[in-house]
Amino acid sequence: MTRAISTFSSCFVLGVFGLAGCQPPEAEPISEPEAELAQSSGAEFSQKEAMGKLMFFDPMLSTPPGQSCAHCHSPGAGFGDPGQLLPVSRGAHPDRFGNRNDLTAAYAAHIPPMEFDEEEGIWVGGLFWDGRAATLAEQAKGPPLNPLEMANPDAAAVVAAMRVAVYADEFKAVYGEGAFDNVDQAYDFMADAIAAYEMTEELNPFNSKYDQYLAGEVELSARELRGLALFEDEGKGNCAACHPSRPSPDGTPPLFTDYTYDNLGSPKNPEHPFYFLAPEFNPDGTDYVDLGLGPVVGDAALNGFFRVPTLRNVGVTGPYLHNGLFKTLYQVVAFYNSRDVAPWPAPEVPENVNIDELGNLGLTVQEMEDIVAFMLTLTDGYQGG
Ligand code: HEC
Ligand code: HEC
Repeated sequence: MTRAISTFSSCFVLGVFGLAGCQPPEAEPISEPEAELAQSSGAEFSQKEAMGKLMFFDPMLSTPPGQSCAHCHSPGAGFGDPGQLLPVSRGAHPDRFGNRNDLTAAYAAHIPPMEFDEEEGIWVGGLFWDGRAATLAEQAKGPPLNPLEMANPDAAAVVAAMRVAVYADEFKAVYGEGAFDNVDQAYDFMADAIAAYEMTEELNPFNSKYDQYLAGEVELSARELRGLALFEDEGKGNCAACHPSRPSPDGTPPLFTDYTYDNLGSPKNPEHPFYFLAPEFNPDGTDYVDLGLGPVVGDAALNGFFRVPTLRNVGVTGPYLHNGLFKTLYQVVAFYNSRDVAPWPAPEVPENVNIDELGNLGLTVQEMEDIVAFMLTLTDGYQGG
């Protein structure tokens, strides 16, 4: 489905259902029905969380208006971008595109800040594909000011929109009468409220078919069980080595990422719209190379490394990989399976490709399809079947 032009606020309403199609609207603050629609998961919220939710869904927090966080992180698409045809998200300016594929905001609350694990000698944790934000609140301060996303000129523009929002009084009730007085502080409060919402059960429901299976409430099909076994078998898929599939010792359900970084050797995506942006946004044109973790930690040996993403809701968050190269899960598994033995295009960053754990898995077509069937059990909101 095509992403509709983002400057239209009705995209926001439809986006909740993952539908495309927008009407040019008058710019107006989030309306009551929109707020109600956004309340649909049944989760209970504190005043701060409820306000954070209104902000997350507020299309007035972009310039031009029309793009909320939810636009690229829609509940109808596992809190990822409902637009699946483009490799990356479109900005509030419809002719601008980000340099990376969307990550889901769901379960991001579980991502630890980045840290160097001395024992293993590796980096672990951090938000974004390259780990550059330490916390949800720090992350939330990025998109409103990113010219390729919500594109506000400065924090003052965002705070001005918040001042006239339906939640302006609540903002003062939660953060104090003078909450809007200092722009930087008001902007921090916004990030704090959005982060509080992202920590709620609504974005962390743990109610996929697989969760219900782990709780002994439902059975997996024979195919899904075969897929699970292949996913975990070190001599087969070996996926769980980086995407752990069992609850941790403290009882936290599996998050399907160990928050480490790797270079899978993914080829460039020739359809990447970022290549074709004006030089002020991408001076390198088609020669642009996404170096991932390397520049963030100042270690060129880690160029091409990206953080292992969660696989929760992966059935509805395509396309896949940091550059949106693959449109289907089957293609992803096929790449893991035969990268080193079939004529795949060269890696974008050829140094440091992980050749130990993937690239030649020897899986049959049926085994690959079984693994895909298992990954489809990770979609939240399973109603029995
Ligand atoms: C134009 C689309 C777009 C908008 C609008 C947007 N995001 Fe994102 N979001 C992305 C992309 C793309 C990434 C990955 C970028 C990267 O890693 O460099 C991302 C990453 C994230 C992550 C990190 C997840 C992880 O696994 O590390 C969170 C959390 C998030 N966004 C929340 C938000 C919030 C909150 C807002 C609103 C303030 C927002 N996003 C607005 C596209 C968007
Ligand atoms: C060595 C660690 C490692 C192993 C083993 C591994 N993965 Fe991954 N996986 C990653 C990393 C890192 C990424 C992100 C890479 C990128 O975007 O460049 C990723 C991305 C993915 C994605 C794309 C998710 C998204 O939201 O874009 C899927 C699907 C996936 N892996 C499934 C699997 C399956 C299935 C297996 C087993 C056949 C597997 N992985 C084995 C590290 C691993």
